[in-house]
Amino acid sequence: MTYDLKIEQFLSCEPNNLSDLELINFYLTLTKFLQDQDRMYYDDNSPKIDDTNYDNLKLFYNKIIFQYPYLKKYSNYHESVGYNPSEKFNKITHKVPMLSLSNIFDNKGLEDFIDKIRKYLSIDTNQFIEVISEPKIDGLSATLIYEKGKLSLAATRGDGHQGENVTENIKTISNIPKTLNFEDVPDLLEVRGEIYMTKSDFIKLNNKMISEGKQTYVNPRNTASGSLRHIDPNVTSSRKLRFFAYTWGDLSEMPSKTHFGMINLFKKWGFDVSPYTKTHTSLNEIIQAYLELNNLRSSLDYDIDGVVYKVNSIDLQKRLGFISRSPRWAIAHKFEAEKAKTRILAIEVQVGRTGSLTPVAKLEPVNIGGVLVKNATLHNEDFITGINSDGDPIREGIDIRVGDYIEIIRSGDVIPKVINVDKELRAKNSKEFIFPSICPVCNSLAVKERSDITGKMSSTRRCTGGLYCESQILGCLEFFVSRNAMNIEGLGGKTMQLFYENNFVISPHDIFTLETRQLNGEIDILSLEGWGDLSMNNLFSNINGRRSVTLDKLIYSLGIRHVGINTSKLIGQQLNSIDNLFETINKANYDYIKILNFLTDIDGLGKVAIESFLTFLRNEENFQILKKLSDDVEIRNTNKIVDTNSTIQGMNLVFTGKFNGMSRSEAKDYAERMGAKVLSSVTSRTDILIIGDDPGSKVKKARELDIKIITELEWLALLQS
Ligand code: IVH
Repeated sequence: MTYDLKIEQFLSCEPNNLSDLELINFYLTLTKFLQDQDRMYYDDNSPKIDDTNYDNLKLFYNKIIFQYPYLKKYSNYHESVGYNPSEKFNKITHKVPMLSLSNIFDNKGLEDFIDKIRKYLSIDTNQFIEVISEPKIDGLSATLIYEKGKLSLAATRGDGHQGENVTENIKTISNIPKTLNFEDVPDLLEVRGEIYMTKSDFIKLNNKMISEGKQTYVNPRNTASGSLRHIDPNVTSSRKLRFFAYTWGDLSEMPSKTHFGMINLFKKWGFDVSPYTKTHTSLNEIIQAYLELNNLRSSLDYDIDGVVYKVNSIDLQKRLGFISRSPRWAIAHKFEAEKAKTRILAIEVQVGRTGSLTPVAKLEPVNIGGVLVKNATLHNEDFITGINSDGDPIREGIDIRVGDYIEIIRSGDVIPKVINVDKELRAKNSKEFIFPSICPVCNSLAVKERSDITGKMSSTRRCTGGLYCESQILGCLEFFVSRNAMNIEGLGGKTMQLFYENNFVISPHDIFTLETRQLNGEIDILSLEGWGDLSMNNLFSNINGRRSVTLDKLIYSLGIRHVGINTSKLIGQQLNSIDNLFETINKANYDYIKILNFLTDIDGLGKVAIESFLTFLRNEENFQILKKLSDDVEIRNTNKIVDTNSTIQGMNLVFTGKFNGMSRSEAKDYAERMGAKVLSSVTSRTDILIIGDDPGSKVKKARELDIKIITELEWLALLQS
C-alpha cells in the first residue's frame, strides 16, 4: 500500500464506530506507523511522508489519546511526542581523551608556542615547522564514531574523559553524514568537531520566541549546547544545528601524514570543514591569517572567538603529545576581548574554598557581545586600592569605589574584569572602599600572608577560620564534586548548599552515604523543595557512577592549595596507591624532612606544593576525611600507560645537560611512558644519569656514588633495545 493511501485510511477512520478491541488495534497500528516515520526521519534522514501529512497524522493521534486516555497504557509513544531515543544521555568514556586548548592573546604568545615546540623537538631556528591555522568556532565539541562507515555513536566532550551519549540528537543534524561510502574510510573512524548554530538561525529562533511571548535565548553557543543536549531530539532537530569537522579521535588506521590531509579527507567524505583552514611555513604567514580572520569575523554567519594553530605533521603531533589537558601541538589565539562601560552599584566580598577574600563588583547590567554582565571581579584588596604588593600603581594608582563609572572587559567565559575607572565622573562625596579585615562569613580574622619564597606580602587576604568557616567548607564541597574533580553531576552550587544547610552533607564522604542514609530514614531528601523520586534516584546513580577513581583524581578533588591537576598526577604516580599514601603521611608525622625530600625529588614537584600537600594531610581531620572516603570509594592506583616490557621499566633516571635529538622534556616523557621514574637530583637511588652537552655538577655526584652514566646517543640506543 502506498504511504498516501495508508495516511488517507488512517485519517478517514472514525474511532467512535470501532469496538474496544478494534480501537486498540487501530491505535497500535497508527503508533507503529508514526514511530517508523520518526525513525526514517531522524535516523536515516530520509522521510517517506511530507511534513503536512505527518502533522495531520500527529494531530489525529493526539485527538485519539485525548478522547481515549486509557489507550496510553498500550504504548509509551505519547511520552516522546516524536522519536524516543533508546539510550539517552548515558555516559560514554572517550577512548582518546577530548583535550582542550591553551590560549594565547598576542603574537608573543604565538612566537613562544613555536619556540617551545622547537625546543621540545630539538629543531633549530632556521627550520620552520609547518603549521595550519583555522577559525576557532564558538560552539561545543562533539565526537562522532563511524564503524564500517556507519555513524554508530556520538557524544559530547563532557569532562574530556567522559561525555554524554547524544547519538539520537546528533542524527538530527542535517550536515552530519550518517554513512560514509568511500573505500578509504578507516573501519573505525572517530571524527571530532564543533556543533554550532548560525547567527541567522539564532535570530530567527529568538524572533519566534518573541512572537510567542516567550523568553529569548542569550547567545548561539549556549542555545546550541542546550539544543544538542535536549531530552527531545525533535527539539534538537528544529533548532537547525550544524557541524564543522576539525580533528579526530580513535582510528583503526591513519590515512594521512598531515592534519591538513585529514581535513581534506573529511571534506571528501562529506563533512563540512572550515573553508579558512590554511597551511603556513612562516611566522608572518600565520600572523597574516590571524588578521584576516579577525577582519572576517563579523561577516561570518557563525561566531568565532579566535584562531587555532596546529602543527601539521601528524608524526610531530604524536611526538609532542600533550601536557595536562592540552596538546603541545595546538593552541588557540583568542581575538581581543570585548569591552563596555558601566557603573559599580556595590562591592561584595566573597570567601573562596581556600579562605581567600575576593571582592566582586555588582554592576549596573550591561550587554557585552550578547551577554548581560552583572558582576566583575575585583581580584583582591590591592586591586581595589590601586597599588600592588611591590608598591607599584595599578590603573595609574586610581582606587575603586562604590558608585564609580568603569570600563570592563570580557573574554570568553571568564568573569569580566575592570580595566579602567573614570575618575572625572566620580561623585565628590564618594568614599574609599574599606576592605574587611575580618571574614564576612565567619568573623574570623582575615590576614595577608608573607610568601616563604619571595618574602613579599600577598595581595590576597585570607580568612583564618579554616573549616570553621562555612564558605570554606561549602567551597571545598563544591570543588570536590566539580567537573575536573570528582565530576558528580546534580550536586552543584545551590543543591550542595541545600544539602549542607540541612546537614545531609558536611564532609565529602557524606556524599557517598546519602543513599544508605535515605534508605535507613536518617535523612529525607524528598522533603526538600523541588526534590522527587526521579531527581533523587538520578543523583544517587550519578554518585554511584563515581565510586571508583584514580588516586591522583582523588588528591586533586581534595582542593589542597597549590596542588593542581599536574601536581596531583605526579604525587599520585609517586605514591601509586592509597595505602602507600596513608603510610607516607604516617611516616611524615615522625620524619617529615625525609618524606618532603622523597616527594620533592620527583622532577616537576615543587616544595611549596608538597609542603601544602603534607600539611593538609597531616591535619588529623583531613586525614580522617580521606580515610572515610577510602571506605566508600574504590581508589585505583595511578598508573601511567607504560610499556611494561621496556628495559628501563621501574628505574630511577636523572637527565642533565642539553639534548640534541630530542629535548629533555621529551626524553623525560618518553622515559615515563616506558615505566621509569625521572628524578630531579642524583642520589644513591638513581639507576642511570643521562647526560647531554654541558652536563654540570650532577656528573661528579654520580661518579662519587658510582652511578651508571650514559650519553644521549646511548640513551637513544637503549630506547630502541
Ligand atoms: S582542536 C586536541 N580546532 O575549542 C585539540 N578546537 O579549548 C582539540 N574549538 O574543546 C581541539 N574550533 O570545542 C580545535 N578549529 C578548532 C576548534 C576547536 C573550536 C573548540 C573545541 C575545543 C575548544 C578548545
